[in-house]
Amino acid sequence: MRWSDSRALRCIVLVCLIVFTIIITGKKSSSPSDNIIALRSLNNPLERVNAVQTPTLTFNPSFLPLLDGYFLAVLRKTVNHWAGPHSLYLSLAREEVSYDESTKMFLPTMKQKGKAEDCQNTGTGPEDGRLFYTVEGAPLLQMTGPPKGKTKMCHIMWIVDVRTIFNLTNLVLTKAPIVYDKLTPLLRGEVAHGKSDKNWSPFLPSQDYGLMFHVDISSPRYFKVYDDKSVRVHYVPDEEIPCPRRFIPKTLSIHQTTGALSLTLCRRGECVPNRDNTVLFAIVQSLKRNGAYRKYTPYVVTWYNHGNLSYRSISPPLTWPIEELVGKQWVYTHSITWKRYHVKNPTHGYLDDHLVIGGGWSDRTAHYVDVEADSLMKNHKTC
Ligand SMILES: *[C@@H]1O[C@H](CO)[C@@H](O)[C@H](O)[C@H]1NC(C)=O
Ligand SMILES: *[C@@H]1O[C@H](CO)[C@@H](O)[C@H](O)[C@H]1NC(C)=O
Repeated sequence: MRWSDSRALRCIVLVCLIVFTIIITGKKSSSPSDNIIALRSLNNPLERVNAVQTPTLTFNPSFLPLLDGYFLAVLRKTVNHWAGPHSLYLSLAREEVSYDESTKMFLPTMKQKGKAEDCQNTGTGPEDGRLFYTVEGAPLLQMTGPPKGKTKMCHIMWIVDVRTIFNLTNLVLTKAPIVYDKLTPLLRGEVAHGKSDKNWSPFLPSQDYGLMFHVDISSPRYFKVYDDKSVRVHYVPDEEIPCPRRFIPKTLSIHQTTGALSLTLCRRGECVPNRDNTVLFAIVQSLKRNGAYRKYTPYVVTWYNHGNLSYRSISPPLTWPIEELVGKQWVYTHSITWKRYHVKNPTHGYLDDHLVIGGGWSDRTAHYVDVEADSLMKNHKTC
């Protein structure tokens, strides 16, 4: 009896040791901080929200850094959710004082011509503005709106150089010529899928590639704008199953991305940018729908910034601080920009540069958080 007792004891100790080891190693390989990137604003005037608030009933915010700590902000504004017309609200902002009401401006409403009933509520605009710099430094505003002429489309993409609609004198330093001197439709040569061209995201690898948009991540489609302003699919051979699809559950759609920026993976001044250490990155989000419930989950995706522009890595999911405030429902991400105006190439930065990420809750609020680029590059899985 004694002998078997001690054997039983030894067995128990051994089992405990094994369980303990499993727990320890399990913890090591997947501590909670490795499985998620929690966004925290570095500079936060509104502690409770941990994100900067913007005017009420605005959403889809996008920002353009200017000189002297100014930003230009564009927000989509509507009276009631989906009860149009929608318009875009442009305003200068500074972090300390938020919005400068004296500079605010609404873009004129765009109305659908012809059979609006085919388009239900969606045939108005402008909607979903995105502000971005080209590699050469031209400040552009991209938006969705109804087409002008007769077409089956309800929505198309429009683009304009901000310098032609908003006084940016003394706020930008660029010699980039004004190519889009009026609101210009980006018309695709081939027949479009569905009735709406929406959610195109600026994708600007380098000067050689020109102006491109990234449209769909699940079967990567890029559109390239040619010198005559025509738009064609830019063929990018890639893996059969695009990298983000291998890491984001198949049951979820991948919806909407921010524009892409380029990033050299060292601190400013500590390396020289080259093909291997410089990537393109953007935030994409998976979408789970369940009736009126929506759950967006953002991820950072990186691409090689040369050749075939293949996917390079994907981050763990990101969380927004506003999720803690409003519950975990329908927090979306819309835009990303460098926080400071990098005059030489405003699309390019380093790990210690700060970013402004714009998003909000439901289609009702607009916020931003500012984070160090480095924090978005943690624990990526290689493609
Ligand atoms: C544009 O802004 C500059 C600098 O603030 C100002 O001097 C100029 O008068 C403005 N131009 C117009 C047309 O308002
Ligand atoms: C681009 O893709 C093609 C076809 O998959 C491949 O043959 C070629 O080597 C790739 N080029 C680069 C630079 O990755």
